[in-house]
Amino acid sequence: MNNAAKVAKLTVHDRTYDLPVLRPTNGPDVIDIRKLYSEAGVFTYDPGFTSTAACDSTITYIDGNKGELLHRGYPIDQLATKSHYLEVCHLLVYGKLPSASALAEFKDTITRHTMLHEQMVNFFRGFRRDAHPMAIMVGVVGAMSAFYHDSTDINDEYQREVASHRLIAKMPTIAAWAYKYSIGQPFVYPSNDLDYASNFLNMCFAVPAEKFEINPILSRAMDRILILHADHEQNASTSTVRLASSSGANPFACVAAGIACLWGPAHGGANQACLEMLKQIGSADRIPEYIARAKDKNDPFRLMGFGHRVYKNLDPRAKVLKESADEVLDLLGVSNNPLLQTAKELERIALQDSYFIEKKLFPNVDFYSGIILEAIGFPTAMFTPVFALSRTVGWISQWKEMITDRQNKIGRPRQLYLGETERNYIEIHDR
Ligand code: ACO
Repeated sequence: MNNAAKVAKLTVHDRTYDLPVLRPTNGPDVIDIRKLYSEAGVFTYDPGFTSTAACDSTITYIDGNKGELLHRGYPIDQLATKSHYLEVCHLLVYGKLPSASALAEFKDTITRHTMLHEQMVNFFRGFRRDAHPMAIMVGVVGAMSAFYHDSTDINDEYQREVASHRLIAKMPTIAAWAYKYSIGQPFVYPSNDLDYASNFLNMCFAVPAEKFEINPILSRAMDRILILHADHEQNASTSTVRLASSSGANPFACVAAGIACLWGPAHGGANQACLEMLKQIGSADRIPEYIARAKDKNDPFRLMGFGHRVYKNLDPRAKVLKESADEVLDLLGVSNNPLLQTAKELERIALQDSYFIEKKLFPNVDFYSGIILEAIGFPTAMFTPVFALSRTVGWISQWKEMITDRQNKIGRPRQLYLGETERNYIEIHDR
């Protein structure tokens, strides 16, 4: 971060304080209020962190007005079309595009960490059959700290490295097994001769009874979905991982916390909610009814897959996914898929509506991803687990960055207290 060159002035109770203004390489200046409480005796108030930078980072940059997303400086559309997921993982974790030999070594390391401790099979079997795969993932990833004791010391650089590799490598196995368990099929073990995306598809869809042919088009679409969800700076689940790990908790526990946060329908759960909404709408003639509901202040309904805290323009990931959805459905010979037609028509109508224009509500990454995931063969309950799998590398990269950051402190927000002031306890017979 560049040193402070400008100063902001804040007057509180007739006294003016100079607050340093920090300059980022990209994005708005940041007013440094770290000494505000000790010097002025006041807190700042910002529920939902709409104007608060909680850390500095060099991983991902988003310009919400332009609709731009950069990982380590590289635009997401270039990564989605020219790169592949494991290369993007290397970029996020280590900060640079790998040389051919570094990439080969990284791929080899990840490939050789994909199996789970065999006793974890028993852990999966402890869940109810009808458990949501996200519930299983939260539990199993949290339980990794009970199975991999030799990589939980966050002060040991080597252990941090091993934990990172384990999480990136084992997450496809965990997500696929959560799915297999929920549908009552036998677990399929990882195959080291397959690339990351194909191996995941194989573990999800292969059965011992017959040979499973992996369609390279679907494998490429899967890889693209993984790239597009890999990181998104300080979103809710990433901030959850950072906050959990600020206390020194082990990485498996922290990533489990991230998965729990991602599950919510306002975050990673939106892809499932969006597909369910498109099915509920059913046909283009019912779109106006749903648009009217989304605009009605007395109706809690929102257009799922629309709107974003940061993007006030088209989410660049949605743009790539729209093209991908066309490509996949076309190649599968179902380009007239009614869900895709409804989604496109909904997008067209909403983008012409003054409500959505004024509030700058555009399709986000979840708007088209569900259509592709369904075409690949995933049921809606697996959409968020796929998101969790993709985002694992983002959580890991941000966690690693935080652990080595000398500014790192335990996260401890303040509050605006509006409760009772001190009062005396009332005995039960006097209440
Ligand atoms: N449909 C209808 N109205 C909406 C929508 C929507 N999808 N999103 C926001 N609005 C309206 C709100 O009602 C609010 O209106 P008001 O100012 O009249 O009260 C205004 O737009 C601003 O909305 P907020 O909720 O204050 O914006 P915030 O930044 O807090 O929320 C969020 C962003 C949660 C993504 C929101 O747009 C939403 O709920 N979208 C639907 C769920 C979704 O798609 N989530 C996925 C996000 S991407 C991701 O996590 C990968």
